[in-house]
Order: sequence, then structure tokens, then C-alpha cells
Amino acid sequence: MQKTLILIKPDALQRNLLGEIISRFEKKGLKIVGLKMIQLTDEQLIDHYAHHKDKPFFKPLCDFMKSSPVVAMVLEGVDVIEAVRLIVGPTLGRKADAGSIRGDFSMSQSYNIVHASDSAENAEKEVWRFFNEDEIYNYQKMDFVSIYNPEELLK
Ligand code: CMP
Repeated sequence: MQKTLILIKPDALQRNLLGEIISRFEKKGLKIVGLKMIQLTDEQLIDHYAHHKDKPFFKPLCDFMKSSPVVAMVLEGVDVIEAVRLIVGPTLGRKADAGSIRGDFSMSQSYNIVHASDSAENAEKEVWRFFNEDEIYNYQKMDFVSIYNPEELLK
């Protein structure tokens, strides 16, 4: 099954939303295979936001992402990258649909609660940017038989 990386950002931590955010992913039926609190480094942020390095918001974004620890998660599921992007909503919180995480909790373009990988290629890079191999757990999730049909379980 596919994996994706989530960073729960400093605004969510400051606003006491960590449990709420994690709970939304759990209730959807996604499997948590990695979970930790980390203080991001400049090196990680330069790498992670390399595609934004020439944008005027790059430095404020990095400062924000270092302003407190973040919670990093790896989630597993069928087509999980796309499913998580729908749960999260678009970047601009005030235009995100109600019901999505950003639609329910963010009014901002930068303070938007979570980061989620946007493609299979980026998910692969991002998981290994923030996690070591021994921090990703391979275990059986008993409720998967109620979440997926037998054919989907083989994906
Ligand atoms: P994220 O999903 O982490 O990916 C890049 C981040 O850059 C994005 O969420 C926002 O936090 C931030 N971002 C993107 N566009 C802008 C913008 N125009 N102004 C400020 N911050 C932005």
C-alpha cells in the first residue's frame, strides 16, 4: 500500500489541534506507520521547501515551521496520497471546503495546519527526509478487513 508524509504544523500545536488532526486521519481508516514530534532544522526545511526557495514567503515560512516542534506522521492506505489531500484541503485555508482540515481550522495561506505530500514521487522523498527506516512500523491493522474489500486489501 501507498505511504504519505504529514507534518502537523506549529499553528496546530499552538492551537491545541494535534489530537483533532490525528483523530481525523485515524477515523478515515488510515494506518499510522510512523509518528513523532520533531524540531525541524534549516537543512530539512531548505530541502523540503526547495521549490519555494526564490519566493518572498520562503524565509517567513521557514521561521514559522521552526517556531515550535512539529508532529511528523507517515500514513498508509490505498491511494492514501490523494485521500489525504482531500481530507486536508487546498493551501488557502479560507477558501478550503468546510469539512476539510484547512476548511475547518485555517484562514491563512501559510498557517494552514498541515503539510501533506502531493505526489507519489514527493511522498517517497518526504517520508525518508523525516524518518529513519527503523521508525516506520510494519504491523497488521485488524480493522483493515472492515475498511477495505478483499480485492482492495491486496493493493
Ligand atoms: P505546504 O503544504 O506545507 O506547502 C508549501 C507551504 O508554503 C504551504 O503549505 C504554505 O504553508 C506556504 N505557502 C504557499 N503559498 C504561500 C503564499 N503565497 N504565501 C505564504 N505562504 C505560502
